[in-house]
Amino acid sequence: MRPAIRAARPEDLPELVALDEVCFGPTAWSEGAWADEFDRLTEDRVVLVADEGALVGYVVLLVPPVVEDVVEVLRVAVTPAERRTGIGGQLMTTALDRCAGRTVLLEVAAGNESAIALYRAFGFEEISRRRGYYGGSEDAVIMRWRNDE
Ligand SMILES: CC(C)(COP(=O)(O)OP(=O)(O)OC[C@H]1O[C@@H](n2cnc3c(N)ncnc32)[C@H](O)[C@@H]1OP(=O)(O)O)[C@@H](O)C(=O)NCCC(=O)NCCS
Repeated sequence: MRPAIRAARPEDLPELVALDEVCFGPTAWSEGAWADEFDRLTEDRVVLVADEGALVGYVVLLVPPVVEDVVEVLRVAVTPAERRTGIGGQLMTTALDRCAGRTVLLEVAAGNESAIALYRAFGFEEISRRRGYYGGSEDAVIMRWRNDE
């Protein structure tokens, strides 16, 4: 069964906090950080979830009102047991559908091969690197996607 991709609702908060913990462990966002994301949903955040009865993935976008043509992907993740089944791709497709005419930027750890492969599959290209950005040892790769339509 393919999950439905839908906008997050306030009642998703506890499940998202738990899923983020499973996906990111020590670098998961706190419940307070997630609550801030929800507070900003009408302001500059878009949170989409993959829902198949339980939540199995999510993507968080920053759509700043000040620089209106640039969107940032802040986080995308899929529960480990359901990776490589297309859910990350479904989330990215729905997210990028909302970004027509905009530039989309993201930052990813240079060693995160799955995420980089996912982003490349969607046409993201590396535009720069920040040396030693993650805890001093790992570079951050900045990637950009541009919709030509
Ligand atoms: C990155 C992540 C979201 C990908 O989600 P996913 O549901 O497994 O991705 P999909 O199954 O939709 O894969 C889509 C395409 O991305 C690429 N891809 C994804 N994972 C890959 C991997 N481990 N190795 C190689 N290519 C990969 C492939 O091109 C794949 O297409 P294919 O399966 O037809 O070859 C998932 O691995 C994840 O949650 N990682 C941990 C969280 C994280 O690091 N997020 C990114 C930083 S915020």
